[in-house]
Amino acid sequence: MKYVFANWKMYLDFDETMILTNQLLAEGLPSDITIGLFPNTIALTEVEKAINGTNLMLGAQNVAWVPKGAYTGATSALFYKNAGCTHALVGHSERRHIFNETNDAVRKKMEACLDVGLTPVLCIGETQQDVENNKQQYRLKKQLMKALEGLDIGNNDILIAYEPVWAIGSGKPCLPDDVEDMHEWIKQEVKNYTDKNIPVLYGGSVNAQNINKYISKQSVDGVLIGHASATKEGFTSIIQALSTS
Ligand code: PGA
Repeated sequence: MKYVFANWKMYLDFDETMILTNQLLAEGLPSDITIGLFPNTIALTEVEKAINGTNLMLGAQNVAWVPKGAYTGATSALFYKNAGCTHALVGHSERRHIFNETNDAVRKKMEACLDVGLTPVLCIGETQQDVENNKQQYRLKKQLMKALEGLDIGNNDILIAYEPVWAIGSGKPCLPDDVEDMHEWIKQEVKNYTDKNIPVLYGGSVNAQNINKYISKQSVDGVLIGHASATKEGFTSIIQALSTS
């Protein structure tokens, strides 16, 4: 089953989040796709109530790596798990680049998720500068190694989202054939760290017009969508595109 994860970032306030969630529920969602919502923390518990009993998944956009304590402004993986999340984005490019999150912090967040039974969605991606300096594979190798080497995954699952930084929110997605190649390479690379089959999602300017070009690739296990998932029109046309594919 392919994944369609909606990262609503900080696009929607509480009311807007609930309106969109209820609109989606009213539309009816496909059962042959795993759809996940990653709302803002303020709205998360209400979204959980609204989607309870449906096959929608709920995820956190970010987690703190300690379970509890004197960490002003932080929300832990444990709290998200208790609030009904099953997944959490870890190391999203906006966390890495705007909030200066390091590979070490990403690693701790991976461990924190696994400790409480949340499935981390490890986000990796190279910058435009990496591409220009021919450091694309170097960057991704390093991000994967720091996050996964020696990691005790136990019985948990892990997902990876390949999100080239230059493709996020830019309207310039990575070409589907290039994504296919990158995913094959990432899957090979991940074998250095685990025998598990780790799904790899693509993210970066995915929308209703291009989603099927990604989803139809064998090495693409799903997509992580930001901007296009944060409006009723955007999300509904994505769902329609999926059902007509
Ligand atoms: P975008 O964002 O779809 O707006 O490019 C994707 C993401 O940041 O996960």
